[in-house]
Amino acid sequence: MKQDIQEILFSEEVLTKRIKELADKISNDYKGKDLVVVGILKGSVLFAAELIKNISIHCEIDFMAVSSYGNSTETSGVVRILKDLDNNIEGKDILVVEDIVDTGVTLTYLLKYLEARKANSIEIVALLNKQARRVSNLDVRYVGFEVPDGFIVGYGIDYAEKYRNLPFIGILKPEVYEK
Ligand code: IMP
Ligand code: MG
Repeated sequence: MKQDIQEILFSEEVLTKRIKELADKISNDYKGKDLVVVGILKGSVLFAAELIKNISIHCEIDFMAVSSYGNSTETSGVVRILKDLDNNIEGKDILVVEDIVDTGVTLTYLLKYLEARKANSIEIVALLNKQARRVSNLDVRYVGFEVPDGFIVGYGIDYAEKYRNLPFIGILKPEVYEK
């Protein structure tokens, strides 16, 4: 598995340190609010787990699953809801937890979908941001790290459902997906 990685971008130590910083900021910003952390499956699970461990105020946890990629490395532009929220979010302060924002197509669609539910507020926290590829005008409130345009895997992020269990984040060797 590790031999397929071209370059390690963020070690586990660097990730946990940065996620703690994000959690501290979120805990402060959401003091007195009705925070619901919404993890987007499956890519955000490791990030969401580390984040909520470090959030020091009350919060609910919910999950959604959407599909946009299939097994390809390019976004299809078609977003399907595979799993919806379990609980009503009316009047609550929603923090959507995403692994990586690339074109922004997925989250733009998802936000529109959630906005119809009358939450008090909806913000996004993304572990990684690939700004170079953005096509939509998306406001990402909290970003862990900026990343270059390459295919990223690890720490929950996959290529064809693999590499999610790597404890670090790295760039996948192009020969792995250009086969
Ligand atoms: P977007 O709609 O183009 O912003 O794509 C968002 C989703 O595509 C993310 O939630 C990821 O699941 C996936 N994605 C985007 N870039 C990468 C990458 O470099 N590696 C793995 N998955 C990615
Ligand atoms: Mg995703």
